[in-house]
Amino acid sequence: MPERAATTSKPTLGDIAGLFARPAPLAIDLGCGNGVFLAALAKLQPEKNFLGVERKAYRVRQTERRIAELPNAAIIHGDVADIFKSLSPTAANEIFLLFSDPWPKRRHAGRRLVQTEFVSSIGRLLKSGGIFFFASDSKDYAERAKGIFQETGWEILPWEPPDEWPKTEFEQHFLSTGVEIRRFQATR
Ligand SMILES: C[S@@+](CC[C@H](N)C(=O)[O-])C[C@H]1O[C@@H](n2cnc3c(N)ncnc32)[C@H](O)[C@@H]1O
Repeated sequence: MPERAATTSKPTLGDIAGLFARPAPLAIDLGCGNGVFLAALAKLQPEKNFLGVERKAYRVRQTERRIAELPNAAIIHGDVADIFKSLSPTAANEIFLLFSDPWPKRRHAGRRLVQTEFVSSIGRLLKSGGIFFFASDSKDYAERAKGIFQETGWEILPWEPPDEWPKTEFEQHFLSTGVEIRRFQATR
């Protein structure tokens, strides 16, 4: 039986099922940072399982502390690209990418997570009717990300999270400094 703690091994759907107390619809938070949003939404929605993915070890440790008492939350330490390769298709009902590094300089735009291949991976990972949620402080990144989803046949809809939903750590910072936040949801 796998432990709920962070793992660097390649997870399969079977492993992931073992990370949680019981099977339930799965939401994945890519680049979950310190786990503020992951832990709070897992508390708010105990009927779902929540999986964080984060590549920085110190943030994984912070997340582990936050989710320690939550049977419906787990974290994987690793790179999103590797996780995509190893997760079974249609494993997820919802995928969040919130305040992903915007790489504002034009010459760095290729480092952004949302690229054509990323969108294909999201398409493989989501169940039919599943939803991808995106938020960013960068207008340029949000518009480009939306464009890549649209070019590959996804439907884009506005996304305004309910008031009771937690704010991510970066979102709290941007809201406190008056930065406009761009959001959308994508489905096929
Ligand atoms: C700007 S922070 C946002 C964190 C959190 N989502 C929030 O809104 O507070 C982006 C996070 O994504 C993580 N990250 C970036 N690229 C990643 C990748 N390829 N795989 C896993 N994590 C990644 C970073 O380490 C960082 O913790």
